[in-house]
Amino acid sequence: MDSRLVYGFLAKFYDLFDLIFLLGGKGNSRFGLLEVISNPPQRILDVCVGTAASSVVVASRNTENHILGIDISDEMLAMARRKIARKKLTNLEVQNLSATAMRFPDNHFDVVMVSFALHEFEKEQREQVFQEISRVLKAGGTFCLIDFARQRNRRNRVFLRVWTLLEPRCFSEFLGIDWSVHLKAYGLFLEGEREFSFSTLYQWRKE
Ligand SMILES: C[S@@+](CC[C@H](N)C(=O)[O-])C[C@H]1O[C@@H](n2cnc3c(N)ncnc32)[C@H](O)[C@@H]1O
Repeated sequence: MDSRLVYGFLAKFYDLFDLIFLLGGKGNSRFGLLEVISNPPQRILDVCVGTAASSVVVASRNTENHILGIDISDEMLAMARRKIARKKLTNLEVQNLSATAMRFPDNHFDVVMVSFALHEFEKEQREQVFQEISRVLKAGGTFCLIDFARQRNRRNRVFLRVWTLLEPRCFSEFLGIDWSVHLKAYGLFLEGEREFSFSTLYQWRKE
């Protein structure tokens, strides 16, 4: 199904999604970003920003960072703008732009992040996004990915199996990716990973 239609419908309820992190018991991975992204003045891109759930966490604490979020759903972006206004954040803005064709110069951002989006992309489209991320990220810059990951805990494994039924078919293929090697082809080298409820936060450095 077309993702614009899906998120046009889901936008108003989307933030309830974060409740599943509380069910998992290991904390919300969005807050893990604060351990990876520091607060000097730097340019950050949030790809597939949605309602800005991750960006708001970073922008609220790292007031020197400037974050730009991009997404193709006007409804999700409207929710993000409402949140940004309510929290009076002047260092976070969002715009309608596709992750597969970003209109930014090469080597433009210090940090690029994507949370809970790439598991919905078919392999070919996902590869395009990685290519774009690597292109717009500065040499030495950081790429952070938060997304669903296989679970050790039996209860969480059962939950994830049920959740799989709600996701596109590419979800299972996504869960099988070996991230320690997967992005080397894009000049990205894995520097760290930390497990949270239902998700893992990975961190790469661009060579
Ligand atoms: C599951 S939501 C994740 C939102 C947010 N990053 C988060 O952590 O909650 C996926 C988002 O990806 C967006 N999206 C899908 N395809 C896209 C594309 N080609 N370019 C930019 N955004 C896209 C959808 O509109 C939706 O807002």
